[in-house]
Amino acid sequence: MKRTIVALPGDGIGKTVLPESIRVLEAVGFEAEYVHGDIGWDFWCSEGNALPQRTIELLEKYKIGLFGAITSKPKEAADRELAPELQGKGLVYFSPIVGLRQHFNLDICIRPCQAFKGNPLNFIRRAAGGGFEEPLVDTVIFRQNTEGLYAGVEWTNPPENVRAAFETHPKMKAFKHVPSPEMAISTRIVSLQGCRRIIRAAFEYAKQYGYKNVTVCEKPNVLRETSGMMWREAKTMAKEYPGIALWDTNIDAQMMWLTKNPESYGVIVAENMFGDIISDGFAGLVGGLGFACSANLGEEVAVFEPTHGSAPKYQELNPSIVNPIAMILSACMMLDHLDEKPKADRIRKAIADVIEEGKTATYDMMKLRGGPDVFALGACTTQQMTDAIISKL
Ligand code: NAI
Ligand code: MG
Repeated sequence: MKRTIVALPGDGIGKTVLPESIRVLEAVGFEAEYVHGDIGWDFWCSEGNALPQRTIELLEKYKIGLFGAITSKPKEAADRELAPELQGKGLVYFSPIVGLRQHFNLDICIRPCQAFKGNPLNFIRRAAGGGFEEPLVDTVIFRQNTEGLYAGVEWTNPPENVRAAFETHPKMKAFKHVPSPEMAISTRIVSLQGCRRIIRAAFEYAKQYGYKNVTVCEKPNVLRETSGMMWREAKTMAKEYPGIALWDTNIDAQMMWLTKNPESYGVIVAENMFGDIISDGFAGLVGGLGFACSANLGEEVAVFEPTHGSAPKYQELNPSIVNPIAMILSACMMLDHLDEKPKADRIRKAIADVIEEGKTATYDMMKLRGGPDVFALGACTTQQMTDAIISKL
């Protein structure tokens, strides 16, 4: 069956890496048609909406999006760069990727952090008996993508009724003397359904791909209500998965253990902000932004994207220097989702072969400072990296 994929390049290097992933998908024989979806800064500037309704409709129709990256700029720049005829109309910039997650309730975010053998960016540590060891990290983060600290329920100078509601909590005594205009509040709201869906997804993934443990990474000793709910639900659900160990770590301790025993962790599940933090932490052990892929899954719609942004400082470089692997791995996650795992595995194997061979490396893999001179120092272009991967298929 021929699929239709909504291709959402977005801004900056999103426009560079997305076509590279499509080249690889075509080379592996994935039969699909790609329809272009407008998204990003250009559309904010020209029509006052970075996520036009027509793009939402494309995703409603075709369900699967492959997304590059977008550029977000601070409020002043957003106002200044808006088309003159749209200025002063009260339009407010909103991140279109956050918009997509909220509109389609893409509440499950999967961020695999898997080391490729021979990647010069892999984490190494000093071994007990001298010398160094390179743990083979294979950890998959499940991040609740719509609730928690990033849900956007927050105030500076909270309105009176909000303040009054908060005052019903005894702990608000500590803030009694803070005038409302001098107060900022960001909430961490977690729903039972949201909790259950992300924990279920984590266990199911562990079961499907043979991971031995699921770790809830929260802080229930302090965040007794929200982290407490996550932990309680996980304990209940774990009984349905007898072969999988349930562990719990606190987010702060987990960041320390990152460099101590990262290879111990299989699947990790966490609330929005904590998931964001640990997934960046683990990504740093396996090559960083050039390798970090992700899936945003809802009940109907799914969007696959590298976790990096639009890297504006490199968008004008021609030829391009950036690493397309994060985008290509995101396309592999799309194939997994579409029951095309054998094709995804062939691509991942091709990437592994290129990395292990060590002849083709983008500037980040050579630990160079980005710029047009990296080619003279032996780095390959974005397109050459893709070509090398395709040649291994
Ligand atoms: P960024 O991820 O765009 O870039 C940070 C640095 O990481 C780059 O300067 C580069 O050194 C490196 N890098 C990123 N992608 C790379 C790749 N594929 N290969 C090699 N090196 C790579 O983050 P930054 O600079 O904080 O943000 C730039 C813009 O991107 C902002 O407008 C921001 O709002 C947006 N952004 C968008 C995201 C998204 O679309 N999901 C996520 C993060 C940032
Ligand atoms: Mg992040």
